[in-house]
Amino acid sequence: MKEEILRIQEEALASIAKVDSMRAIEDVRVAILGKKGTLTMAQSGMKDVPKEDKPAVGQMLNDVRRAISTALDEKLDQLQVEADRQSVAGIDLTLPGRSVAVGGIHPISIIRDEAIRVLRRMGFVLADGPDIEDEFHCFDALNTPTDHPARNEKDSFYFDSGKLLRTHTSSVQIRTMEKQNPPVRIIAPGSAYRRDEIDATHLSVFNQLEGLYVDKDVTIGDLKGTLEYFLQALFGQETEVRFRPHFFPFTEPSFEIDVKLKVAGCEPKWVEIAGCGMVDPAVFEAVDSSRGNKEYEGMTGFAFGIGLDRLAMIRWGIRDIRALIENDVRFLSQLQ
Ligand code: PHE
Repeated sequence: MKEEILRIQEEALASIAKVDSMRAIEDVRVAILGKKGTLTMAQSGMKDVPKEDKPAVGQMLNDVRRAISTALDEKLDQLQVEADRQSVAGIDLTLPGRSVAVGGIHPISIIRDEAIRVLRRMGFVLADGPDIEDEFHCFDALNTPTDHPARNEKDSFYFDSGKLLRTHTSSVQIRTMEKQNPPVRIIAPGSAYRRDEIDATHLSVFNQLEGLYVDKDVTIGDLKGTLEYFLQALFGQETEVRFRPHFFPFTEPSFEIDVKLKVAGCEPKWVEIAGCGMVDPAVFEAVDSSRGNKEYEGMTGFAFGIGLDRLAMIRWGIRDIRALIENDVRFLSQLQ
């Protein structure tokens, strides 16, 4: 029995030494240590070994099994090292890696998020409304008469259903007040759509940020203070801002806000960036009649609609708004 075991060990070690692939080593392992393997078969001969020899033979079987297992593992390691070496043969591991270009955040998103951050600090909360609007929320409830130019097919994008792509985010004022009792302090960033001639300061799809503040005793001072603080927080204390009297059907009085655009090497020029004003009581009336109560009667408030694309122009000194939608990475990657 002992010679038999030694012979198996010798043969096993010899065949392990000859193995030259990872697949073959598995076959060898099975042939020796598997259920029908040579060593396993020899082990079943234990029952015929005389009682007094059993401990010694058992010990020997264990030693041999351990020696063979170790030899198999070492061989496997050796083959693995060789396989690794071959798989990187011809590759220079000391070369620097190729970096992957990660995208950036679009300037409109950057300025929108900054604007939201400043206004949230002032207590405004986010509100939302649909891009496809009906005439009631876009115009009627905003005191805009049927013959107003914005309601013209030539100026706005109408669907056959009579709905239209909202011409401004002011529709969210109405949507919010319909749902909520005063006081209201909301901002609503989003797209607006107009059949404008596209030029250096106009796009037909552009981005606005609407604001609405409704409470008792809101004054023009609140409106001016809020917007001046906002613009200086965004562009710096030295920012030049002017309020120009204007007309909007849904605010009275109304203003347009201009900010001085300064581009190196060019004459500074005023750029209109927002419309604003004190909420016209006719708007509160329309909201109350749509809600069927009088919660907004006697309320005061101000509203504003800021052009986010225009804010980006001021922030980065961009002279042509179209650069923001042309997706030229050479241009966009400079604005971070
Ligand atoms: N909705 C106006 C526009 O798009 C801007 C505005 C908003 C004016 C709120 C007054 C109050 O031009």
